[in-house]
Amino acid sequence: MKALIPAGGAGTRLRPITHTSAKQLIPIANKPVIFYVLESIAEAGITEVGIVVGDTAEEVRRAIGDGSDWGLRVTYLPQAAPLGLAHTVLIAREFLGDDDFVMYLGDNFLIGGITGLVEQFRADRPAAQIMLTKVADPRAFGVAELDVEGRLIGLEEKPRHPKSDLALVGVFLFTAAVHPIVAGLTPSARGELEISHAISGLMHAGHPVVTTITEGYWKDTGNVADILEVNRLVLEGLEPEIAGVVDDASELIGRVTVGPGAVVRGSRIVGPVIIGAGSVVENSYVGPFTSVAEDCRIIESELEYSVVLGSSVIRGVGRIEASLIGREVEVIPAPRTPRAHRLLLGDHSRVQVCAYL
Ligand code: TTP
Repeated sequence: MKALIPAGGAGTRLRPITHTSAKQLIPIANKPVIFYVLESIAEAGITEVGIVVGDTAEEVRRAIGDGSDWGLRVTYLPQAAPLGLAHTVLIAREFLGDDDFVMYLGDNFLIGGITGLVEQFRADRPAAQIMLTKVADPRAFGVAELDVEGRLIGLEEKPRHPKSDLALVGVFLFTAAVHPIVAGLTPSARGELEISHAISGLMHAGHPVVTTITEGYWKDTGNVADILEVNRLVLEGLEPEIAGVVDDASELIGRVTVGPGAVVRGSRIVGPVIIGAGSVVENSYVGPFTSVAEDCRIIESELEYSVVLGSSVIRGVGRIEASLIGREVEVIPAPRTPRAHRLLLGDHSRVQVCAYL
């Protein structure tokens, strides 16, 4: 059995971060989200992995290499344009051969791994095994319709009027029966070859498609709110460890990890919080569910429920909450007069300022 990880895509919902980086490399508790995917695949006993890459191919290759860190053998499969998830299966045809495979979206997060699912699939080998989960607003997902006995009778991609609240989770298992179906697909209204259409196609051709409803935790980290939420969840399980230096004037409460070479001075940190290697936190407050990556400087500021990527500076700006801050970003005070915000923002940035300041 092989694994296929789509890790190309456009990442429009995470601009401007995705103008310069792969969304699959956004850190969750200071570890790229796709590393959790690779860990789950290795844990399930799969070693042959195809990673579909797009514009950010170089960065993904640099981070993952040949996969040996996870005991995996990785083959990179370039996709010229993000033409859909079923298109990733199409371009992986040669790599996949006639083997069964699990397709695990490179920006998805599933607590509890995939070992149970893979074992069930290996035992039963339906043409496709999919997972569904209840979501509050199904309109952004592939949505399933089940009959009274819980059998799948229909799948719709991002429907305006969903027939249920059961969304397709981004982990699918297939046998080689999917290939002729994928080869016969035509682009949807949004111009993509849809994986939900491939699954419907298998069903209509009379192939067995097995559905399991998971109560487990699943998130697509495609937008900021979901990244902060997954970060919160992973930090809930953080093992505290102080590898850096914390001075006597600082107070650490709850589960806090301070990476090697990091320094905390005159600050209060209320966990769960992770401070990356080489970062400095000085005269600041860092509150629960915050991940600060490596080589950052948090000076005379307050930060809570946020993710800060590498080498960024936050200095003298009061309180920041529920924020995703990219690499080498500076958040610093404006001169005193005139009282004004001064901004240098990349395309598609989004800033919410405290209007009464
Ligand atoms: P999506 O989040 O569905 O799509 P996207 O990356 O284009 O993002 P957005 O909707 O914000 O523009 O993709 C899920 C995963 O699959 C993600 O890891 C990117 C990957 N992907 C591909 O590799 N090729 C593709 O053609 C598509 C559509 C997605």
